Amino acid sequence: MAEIAIIGGTGMTSMEGLSITRREMVKTPYGSPSGPLIFGEFDGCSVAFLARHGHKHSIPPHRINYRANIWALNSVGIKKIIAVGAVGGIADECSTGTLVVPEQVIDYTHARSGTFFDGKPNEVKHVDFSFPYTESIRRALISAAGQTGVPVVEGGTYGVTQGPRLETAAEIRRMQQDGCTIVGMTSMPEAVLARELDIEYASCAVVVNRAAGFDGKTIDPDELSAAIPTGMESARVVVAAALARVLA
Ligand code: HPA
Repeated sequence: MAEIAIIGGTGMTSMEGLSITRREMVKTPYGSPSGPLIFGEFDGCSVAFLARHGHKHSIPPHRINYRANIWALNSVGIKKIIAVGAVGGIADECSTGTLVVPEQVIDYTHARSGTFFDGKPNEVKHVDFSFPYTESIRRALISAAGQTGVPVVEGGTYGVTQGPRLETAAEIRRMQQDGCTIVGMTSMPEAVLARELDIEYASCAVVVNRAAGFDGKTIDPDELSAAIPTGMESARVVVAAALARVLA
């Protein structure tokens, strides 16, 4: 039985190196997840994989059914999640190609269904979310990056924007003042939904561009797309090396 799941983001709609044993489309009280849960062996470990944006990358960040995704993973017994996602770099050290393992999050999204505790039929509950990412999974990712030689930033704050548009330069300046070091569109409500179901969760964020307004420049979509395959391959290698540590 898989205890750990990998949620793949943009550029990781399937998992190379995963020998697939089974696919399962799980029905949830919240509707359908982004796609089937894919079970198999990855680097000697039993894992489940879910493509956050669907297998054809057709679900934009604001339309992802985060509740269905996390509910589905919980219903098959998943206890830990490594969430891979592409982000823009705000802090100087978060240059393109770097892997960031954030320790904090600020949620700038709106109108996303972000809780399982929304009143009847569920109880009202306020989960502690002081430290949104699970430290032991973060440490496993950071040491795996060290072992595999992938440049990694150990910490920082992930600012989550609504998308699907990219940010304005002023929005990025404000986020920088708030303390954000990276910007992406998917870590919330994913991280808090996992917390609500007691699933350990950490983000493995891959920087694929400098955030809007960096050096007075616009974001070149071609440059961003070009950085995704290399960045995601680094993430794949790091996740593979982290699995045994996470499960130890
Ligand atoms: N902003 C938000 N999300 C992103 C970015 C960005 O610059 N790059 C990749 N995902």
